[in-house]
Amino acid sequence: MVIHDVIVIGAGLAGMRAAVELAEAGLDVAIVTKVHPIRSHSVAAQGGINAAMNKADSWKDHMYDTAKGSDFLGDQDAIEVLCKEAPENIKELERMGAIFNRDDKGNIAQRAFGGAGYARTCYLADRTGHSMLHIIFEQVIARGICRYNEWHVVEVIVEDGVARGVIAIELLTGKLHRLHAKAVLLATGGYGRVFSASTNALSSTGDGMSLALRAGAPLMDMEFVQFHPTTLKRTGILMTEGARGEGGYLINANGDRFMHKYAPNKLELASRDVVSRAEQEEIDAGFGDDGCVFLDLRHLGEKKISEKLPQIRDLAIKFEGVDPVKDPIPVKPGAHYSMGGIMTDIDGKTPIKGLFAAGESACLSVHGANRLGGNSLLEAVVFGRRVGRGVAKFAKTAKLYPFPEDALKNAAHGIALLMNREVGESASKIVDGVRKAMQKHCGIYRDKKSLEEGLAKVRQLAAKLDEIALVDTGDIFNTEMINVLELGHIVEISEAMLLGALNREESRGSHSRSDFPTRDDENWLKHTLVYLEDGKFRVDYKGVSITRFQPEERKY
Ligand code: FUM
Repeated sequence: MVIHDVIVIGAGLAGMRAAVELAEAGLDVAIVTKVHPIRSHSVAAQGGINAAMNKADSWKDHMYDTAKGSDFLGDQDAIEVLCKEAPENIKELERMGAIFNRDDKGNIAQRAFGGAGYARTCYLADRTGHSMLHIIFEQVIARGICRYNEWHVVEVIVEDGVARGVIAIELLTGKLHRLHAKAVLLATGGYGRVFSASTNALSSTGDGMSLALRAGAPLMDMEFVQFHPTTLKRTGILMTEGARGEGGYLINANGDRFMHKYAPNKLELASRDVVSRAEQEEIDAGFGDDGCVFLDLRHLGEKKISEKLPQIRDLAIKFEGVDPVKDPIPVKPGAHYSMGGIMTDIDGKTPIKGLFAAGESACLSVHGANRLGGNSLLEAVVFGRRVGRGVAKFAKTAKLYPFPEDALKNAAHGIALLMNREVGESASKIVDGVRKAMQKHCGIYRDKKSLEEGLAKVRQLAAKLDEIALVDTGDIFNTEMINVLELGHIVEISEAMLLGALNREESRGSHSRSDFPTRDDENWLKHTLVYLEDGKFRVDYKGVSITRFQPEERKY
């Protein structure tokens, strides 16, 4: 058994930023991550990070845009922290070595992003997440923070309402380990891979959320998933919103720029939920091309495309065979971001003593029913830092509670059952079925009948989990076994999402019910909570923190 003060699960931006704070506070912190840190999904963030850096802008305007973007479901006390602390976090990143693009005067350049009243997105070409992740990783290395790379957490151990540590499999050997700590921080990212078309890394399977749910913590607002308007036709790879921020258009198969029908003021820079719905409507009305519309950058010219959007050009050429300098890129909406997650307070605390969450796996909630582009890298660093400090304060005085005797034996028994089953179901068929069901029944538009059908399909597939047999029964890098563990998470997350979506009889942000097409503040201005109790889901609700901005009609 290894012992640390704090264990951080996940080595994306939020997890590593928190770990740096914990190390700074003099604590013994370890990071456990199922992929190497620089392969964490934060690396894929492209277009930028928001902050009111300019005198003509203000954190209050940023806060208003974020609250409006959230369709007024975001908790405004948390949004205030996000927006107020944004500029100092950008400066801090710059001091760490982030080489943000500059304007002609030498100031940090900012580009327009969707749903924002001011061009406030700082960026490094279209590789912002890539650069930020590497910079924070350097900080982790500089402090000698202990890392368990390619260790997959199978259980968060909670006894008598107190988190005691985790059990994890070391992929290289297949050995199970106990990691004992005073506090556990989950920063495991989102659940985009619940869907078949997603911008997310294959590793984004909602693990931390499902581990927290099993440990007794509630998930919040799981029905709200963001569909990004511009993902590549064949692969779902992200084409950054920065492309529209730099002046790119959306056109349909007839070559018509269609956004004026849906968002006459902001056009392509309306919020993502609005733009994705508009694309879907064009496609459904027969103005698409094989399920796609087009992102047209040709008028920007080769120089600007190569300078500001080099990765987009490269990806479009390599994965779609289209050079954006010469031709429009075929794009479609794809699952991109999980607004829902582990319910926490503004300091990342869950209701379980010693269990915390941050980043996309947490739901504070700063994004409510729809996140603005550029606010997710921001949440990762602002709340990575803040939650890291909060956990440090907790761990400095907390007691190390005993690690339950039989926890390792129980976990080993579950794995052995899977490894020793000689004949059974194929995991890949089940995961494929769940993803197709979620894509069809819990996509951009939803209704009661379709959601019920989706729930029935997912439950039917979930019943087969205990019958899965593996082809690979070896110990070394058994990724097939890991995929089965991830499938368990995918199934639980899917059920939580479908339940939240089925119960929420209104349309708000990314949740569009064709049978309840309007927002209903009287009955639904509240967060959905989902609990897992004795193997059964229970749904509950909680109020929204509204401090500065009263809900109003959202128009772009
Ligand atoms: O479009 C993008 O570059 C994505 C940014 C974000 O999700 O914040």
